[in-house]
Amino acid sequence: MKFFVDTADVAAIRDLHATGLVDGVTTNPSLVGKSGRDFREVIVDICKVTDGPVSAEVIATDEAGMLEQGRALAALAPNVVVKLPLTLDGLKACRKLTSEGTRTNVTLCFSTSQALLAAKAGARFVSPFVGRLDDLAQDGMQLIQEIVEMYANFPNLKTEVLAASIRHPLHVSQSALAGADVATIPYPVMK
Ligand code: E4P
Repeated sequence: MKFFVDTADVAAIRDLHATGLVDGVTTNPSLVGKSGRDFREVIVDICKVTDGPVSAEVIATDEAGMLEQGRALAALAPNVVVKLPLTLDGLKACRKLTSEGTRTNVTLCFSTSQALLAAKAGARFVSPFVGRLDDLAQDGMQLIQEIVEMYANFPNLKTEVLAASIRHPLHVSQSALAGADVATIPYPVMK
């Protein structure tokens, strides 16, 4: 299973990257907001630390806006993966960006049927939110298991299951046991 770091803190990424255990990075607007820095500069800096996939999220909510922002983000570095919300417009943008050769991470996935849609739209990664489901007294890890099982029915599918909203080390080992392709892990959890 690949380890991504779920942070926009470049120093933290550098620190963990030195372990040789980091395969990529995911960010989101809140994480970049916390850094207090310019969004694009942060993404460019992260892409200098790792050549693994770096997810950078659009903030537009309509297809045209997502496409415009997604194309601009993809132009920042070859390893940028455009992160899109799992909405109808997000799925449309996903299909278009995928057809242009841009990798996408369809995020905010809370059900197996949504994961099926993301795969149909050509997402390279789908991000089921484990911790957020646990917060609602649902079983986030069960969702990971179901998506892995569902995707296994279609061996040609290229979509990778990226366990997100990870809160503690047990979520990481359980994601590995379930067969997730990737877990994106906050800095303190990785430490
Ligand atoms: C994934 O890419 C997200 O950045 C992340 O895991 C969000 O989860 P959280 O807001 O529940 O921590």
